[in-house]
Amino acid sequence: MSNRISVSPEGIEYPLPAKEDYPREFDRLEKLAEQAREKGREVVVVMGVGFVGAVMAAIVADTTDENGDPSKFVIGMQRPSPRSFWKIPTINQGVAPVKAEDPEVEPMFARCVNEKKTLTATFTNEALSLADVVIVDVQLDYVKEDLGQVTTGHVDMEALEDSLGIIAQYISPETLVVIETTVAPGTTEQVALPLMRRIFKSRGIQTDPLLAHSYERVMPGRNYVQSVRDFWRVCSGVNDTARERVKKFLNEVLNTDEFPLTVLDRPIESETAKIVENSFRATILAFMDEWSLFAERNGVDIIKVLKAIKQRPTHSNLIFPGPGIGGYCLPKDGGLGIWAYKHILGFEDDIFTITPAAIDINDTRALHAAQLVRDALRNMGLPIASAEVLILGASYREDVGDTRYSGSEILVRKLSEMGAEIRVHDPYVDIWWEFHNQEAYPSHSKKVFFRNQKKLTDLEVRKDLDKALEDIDVLVFAVRHQDYMHLDPDTIIKKIGKPVAVVDCFGILDDAAITRYLELGCEVKGLGRGHIKRLKEKLNKK
Ligand SMILES: NC(=O)c1ccc[n+]([C@@H]2O[C@H](COP(=O)([O-])OP(=O)(O)OC[C@H]3O[C@@H](n4cnc5c(N)ncnc54)[C@H](O)[C@@H]3O)[C@@H](O)[C@H]2O)c1
Repeated sequence: MSNRISVSPEGIEYPLPAKEDYPREFDRLEKLAEQAREKGREVVVVMGVGFVGAVMAAIVADTTDENGDPSKFVIGMQRPSPRSFWKIPTINQGVAPVKAEDPEVEPMFARCVNEKKTLTATFTNEALSLADVVIVDVQLDYVKEDLGQVTTGHVDMEALEDSLGIIAQYISPETLVVIETTVAPGTTEQVALPLMRRIFKSRGIQTDPLLAHSYERVMPGRNYVQSVRDFWRVCSGVNDTARERVKKFLNEVLNTDEFPLTVLDRPIESETAKIVENSFRATILAFMDEWSLFAERNGVDIIKVLKAIKQRPTHSNLIFPGPGIGGYCLPKDGGLGIWAYKHILGFEDDIFTITPAAIDINDTRALHAAQLVRDALRNMGLPIASAEVLILGASYREDVGDTRYSGSEILVRKLSEMGAEIRVHDPYVDIWWEFHNQEAYPSHSKKVFFRNQKKLTDLEVRKDLDKALEDIDVLVFAVRHQDYMHLDPDTIIKKIGKPVAVVDCFGILDDAAITRYLELGCEVKGLGRGHIKRLKEKLNKK
């Protein structure tokens, strides 16, 4: 890829802006902001239009006042990097830069950009000088040095620190800055505030920046928009003014009548709330790993067991973890807290046991799924080396195209290390960036932890299931995408043309489907599905 071109997931090439494009672009924005102000609209800049920022920008742009008139004008700001620049022209055509099952997403972009004209996107940092409010939605990564050992990793603050520095250079002293990025507890007051204060001072501004923190609970997927707009929020500010301003802003743009806002005293409390919330979730998922193994070895179907337990409303949030816990948040957020305790807050002792153990268990769960593939093949008298394996699902959860830290990535890498040939099918993923860019973006890929990964750079995500099935040896159900929930065993095996090893990582197959695959001569295994042995014995007795 040329470093002057940015290619969208659909393959459209956009040349990056040249030096002379910048003044023209700022001119365009200045005029738009002026027109917006004349209509009484507040100007909001969203920095970073990724999975979170893009949808947040559209939601703010869709805000109306009590008369139903638009009350905000939003500029989505994005670095013009080859990896991300395409998001700007995409948004400016009224198209969402994120793919989702939520039917609200696409019309919202089209409406705000083309009809209401309350949303535009840009590459120039100067946009910040026009802002009444800046929302920070850039990434903050946690770099892991070892597989399954979160405590040896560290926080990569570069993108956030750079962004805060840029913001402080451009904004006016009255601009409210809301950090939505998930940060290590202490960051807003002990990293962002001094950093921005220093730059303010160098500009001759004596007041403190109006900094606030309010974390996102967005769930990309079917309820993408609702999970931002119609959901409870927590916020805080570095001083009374910042706290009042963020409260007012969030009350205007979110449905806080139905989903009330919680205002905490200090940003470290809001930051900690996010980390504890996600560490809790990572922990209940990790907790099921040992019971999933127990089930496999003792004739128990963990899926039925969980269903039985969840009848009790007190246990309704027990979740089966599938082949690993991915997404951008759960694999890293606990790490941010552990790291902050030492490196921001200055303590030297180790107080954390459960949080790192949970992340480590989740990060390595897919290794066992690879083991099941090998075992199933062995039972059919086949070696794993050179076996053709089709993985159904690349993303980290059902019905989304987000592949970040997905269990499927570890599964593919481990199987490749074992010598298998990998094919992948996913209806939502066009390019699996963790493989496609594995040389260029090591922090987003786990390549370094495995051997025999080179050819995975060319791993293509297939869209035609029938073709993908041709002549495979193993079929792995890895993600609960709608498309995979009701596949008919007879049709599948007919298309493949022979019995294969079937591995269910996510409780996708019911007993009827498992039995049918067995009847068709397949070997079936599943994470936590110890009862398969019993189903097999029952068949053999017939
Ligand atoms: N994805 C989720 O489901 C989710 C849920 C809750 C919270 N969060 C948190 O929200 C934050 C953002 O996550 P995301 O998923 O949107 O990440 P992302 O990587 O999709 O988006 C970040 C964007 O910021 C851009 N960016 C970086 N530096 C910039 C700069 N200086 N100027 C302008 N743009 C810049 C990047 O190019 C990218 O497009 C993270 O802290 C994450 O933990 C994410």
